[in-house]
Amino acid sequence: MYILGINAYHGNASAAIVADGRLLAAVEEERFNRVKYAAGFPSAAIRYCLDAAGITLREVDHIAIPRNPWARLGTKLLYSLRMPSFAAERIKVMGRFAGIPEALAKAFDVSPGEIRAQYHRVEHHQAHLASAFFVSPFDQAALLSADGLGDFASTMWGAGQGNRMHIDGSIAFPHSLGMYYTAVSQYLGFRKFGDEYKVMGLAAYGEPAYMNEFRHIVRNTRGIGFRLGLKYFKHHRTGPEMTWRDAEKTPVLGAMFSNYMAERLGPARDPAAPVEKAHRDGAATLQARLEEVLFQMLRALHARTGQNAVCLAGGVAFNCLANGKIFDKTPFKQIFVQPAAGDAGLAVGAAYFVHHQILGRPRSFVMENAYWGPGYSHAQIATAVAASRLQGEGLEISELHEKVIAQEAAKEIAAGRIVGWFQGRAEWGPRALGNRSIVADPRRPDMKDILNARIKHREMFRPFAPSILAESTGEYFEKSYPCPFMTQAYSVRLEKREEIPAPTHVDGTGRLQTVTQEANPRYWGLIREFANLTGVPVVLNTSFNDNEPIVCRPEEAIECFLRTKMDALVLGDVLIRRPSEPVEAPRWTGE
Ligand SMILES: [Fe+2]
Repeated sequence: MYILGINAYHGNASAAIVADGRLLAAVEEERFNRVKYAAGFPSAAIRYCLDAAGITLREVDHIAIPRNPWARLGTKLLYSLRMPSFAAERIKVMGRFAGIPEALAKAFDVSPGEIRAQYHRVEHHQAHLASAFFVSPFDQAALLSADGLGDFASTMWGAGQGNRMHIDGSIAFPHSLGMYYTAVSQYLGFRKFGDEYKVMGLAAYGEPAYMNEFRHIVRNTRGIGFRLGLKYFKHHRTGPEMTWRDAEKTPVLGAMFSNYMAERLGPARDPAAPVEKAHRDGAATLQARLEEVLFQMLRALHARTGQNAVCLAGGVAFNCLANGKIFDKTPFKQIFVQPAAGDAGLAVGAAYFVHHQILGRPRSFVMENAYWGPGYSHAQIATAVAASRLQGEGLEISELHEKVIAQEAAKEIAAGRIVGWFQGRAEWGPRALGNRSIVADPRRPDMKDILNARIKHREMFRPFAPSILAESTGEYFEKSYPCPFMTQAYSVRLEKREEIPAPTHVDGTGRLQTVTQEANPRYWGLIREFANLTGVPVVLNTSFNDNEPIVCRPEEAIECFLRTKMDALVLGDVLIRRPSEPVEAPRWTGE
C-alpha cells in the first residue's frame, strides 16, 4: 500500500512516499528547482518519490495533504470579517488546495479520473506531530509542535502511544513562538525568510540584557502556553499569511514588528547597517526568552503526560541551542527531532498520520538516518565527470576503492585542505549530514575564516558544525545523548575546546552530528581515518553549497567545486584533487 505525502503551496514544498509503513523517499522541491525554501507545487519531488518507489501515480493508494481548510474555521471567519484582504487571501489559498488533484494530473499527464488514490486532509500541526512521533524510536512520548503558523495555529501538544496520537491542546493565531522569533529577527535587521538561524548564531555574542522587556513581548500563561504582547507586533493587524511573490520563488515575509517595539527597544536595525552590541544583546535576549517559555511549556507537558521521552517538530524544533538544554531544564530524558522538523517534514508527517491514525496500521519504521533523497550510480557520476569542465583543468582525477578514498580524503583534511564530500542519497532536511557535505579540519582555529573566505561567504558570527564518531561523543561533549541529525547543540568539554576550535561556537557549544557506522558507513569511515591520522574523531561539516540549496546531483557538486576554492572533491568512488599551495600545519599541538 502506497501513501504519497505532499506539502504544496507552502514554504519548503516537499514530497514523501511510504510503502506498507516503510519510508522509501522524501525530498524538498528546492533540491530540484534550485530555489531556496521553494513553495509552489512540488512536481519534481513527487516524480522522484514515485521513481524511487518504482510506481506510477496511478498506483498510489492514498494521498496525504498536510492542510485542513476546516480547522479553526470560526477564528478564520472572525478575522475575515475584520480584514477583507485576509478573506480574499483565504479564498485564494483554498482554491489552490482544492486544485491539487488537477495540478497532479497535469504534472503527470494523466486525467484526474485515472488517479484512484483517496485524498486525506491532515491538519498542519497534527502532521508535524506525526512526523516526529510515528518515525521516532519511542513507543510512547510527549509531543510538541511549535512554528510560525499553520492552519491558523502556531503550537500543538499531546501524547503518542503505539500507533495513536492524542492531541491535548493548541494555541491559535496570532500567538506564536515562531512569529516572535521572526519578528524580533526582522527588527534586528535580518529580514529574509530563514534568517532566524543567523540570529540564533549571533545570540552567543551578546548578553540577555533586555529580559524584563522581553517578558512583556512574550508572556507566560499557566500550564502549557504563552501569549504575545500584541502591542509589539503587527501581524495580527496586517494578516497572518506569508506571501509568495511568485509560487516558485522563495517566500517573502512582510514586517511583523510594530513601531512600539522600536519605541521600547530603540530603532530597528537597517539590514545594511553594522551589527552592534545592542543587536547582539537583542539576539541573546530573544533566544534566552524563547528558552524560558519553551522550557516552562515542556515542564508542564511533562507533568501532564508523565512521559520520559519528548518528540519535537515545527520550525521552533530547529532551535538546537534550546534543544540541547532540554535534559538540564526539563525532566525529559529522551528526545527525538526528525531531520526535516520544519514544514518540509509535513509530507512525511501527513503520510504517517494516514498510515497510523486513519488506517490504524501498526508501527514498523524508525527513521534512523536522513538519507531519503536522490542517489546516483557510479555510472551516472562517471558520466557527469566526463561531461564536465573538470577535464582539461589540470586536475588529478582518480577512481579508488571506498577505503582508500576515505584515507586519501582524511589526509587532505588533516593537511588543512577543504574537501567536498558527495556520496549516497541526499539528506532529507536542511542539514548536510555527510552525503552532501564540505568537510574540513576542526583543529585549525583559522578554518572558519578560511571556509568563509573561500567558499561559504557567511556572516562571521555563524558557527560551523562538528561531526563526531558516535562512540566518542562523551569524550568531547558534556552530553552523549545521540544527535544524528544536528538538532541539538551541546557544550564542548572545556579541555577539548582548544582541540576542536573551528566548530566550537563562541559560547562553547557545538551543533553536533553523532555518526554511527550503521547510519552512514562511508562518512563514519572518513572520520575514523581522520582520527587514525590525528587522534581527533571529529571533522568540521558544513553543507555542500554556496548560497543556494544544498547540491543534489553530481553535476551541481562539480559546478560548486569549480566555482569555489575547494581543494578536493569526492564523488562516490572518484577523487578529484586540485593542486594548491601547501598549507601551514595547524597551530594546535595538543598530543
Ligand atoms: Fe509548520
